[in-house]
Amino acid sequence: MQTHAVIFDAYGTLFDVTSVQQQTEETFPGHGDAITELWRRKQLEYTWLRALMNRYKPFSQVTRDALVYAAKSRGLTPEAQQIQTLMAAYLTLHTFPEVTSVLAQLSNKRRAILTNGDLPLIEPAVRAAGLENALDAVLSVDSIQLYKPSPQAYALVTSQLKVRAEHVLFVSSNPFDVVGATNFGFRVAWVKRAGGQMDELDTAPAHTVETLTELLPLVA
Ligand code: 2OP
Repeated sequence: MQTHAVIFDAYGTLFDVTSVQQQTEETFPGHGDAITELWRRKQLEYTWLRALMNRYKPFSQVTRDALVYAAKSRGLTPEAQQIQTLMAAYLTLHTFPEVTSVLAQLSNKRRAILTNGDLPLIEPAVRAAGLENALDAVLSVDSIQLYKPSPQAYALVTSQLKVRAEHVLFVSSNPFDVVGATNFGFRVAWVKRAGGQMDELDTAPAHTVETLTELLPLVA
């Protein structure tokens, strides 16, 4: 089956969420690693909990809440300025080293992001990384107030880009997202970044790659 569109998850796949670690350490000395790790874990957990409760909040606010939780878990009382500094760091997350080159080499396909991030969070990061012209669309679940892995979130790709699911290669490093996208009917490549482990959810990705560069032969 021909691939017409390559759709990327944002955080953890194109953008390295651990690149805030240095800023986290400067803001909360001695707690950088622990807060960075828990911040991400709680951020994802809160999206799923809110989805179950039908209490949607945009990802930027969930991210802020998760940061406050992570700081408090270390016995800290975060000040508004500290939270603001770290939230600002989320707008300039580093991309993984191969991202720019791989997106350029996929220019004969439609390329888009599908993210749980709301546009005020993701668009500045895309601009800061210089990726605006390398993407045909940035799709956010915020438009439907549901989070991945809801099938309705993945349906944004088919409805907005007018592409059939079987013509999509969906790319994510996040196991929950790999499972959700496969469940929706996409062919999925799991980018097994360092330390990645697939979830036990009765689903295996069609492809497992170490970096995005290995996607190129999959869509040639
Ligand atoms: C995303 O970008 C949360 O990493 C996830 O949608």
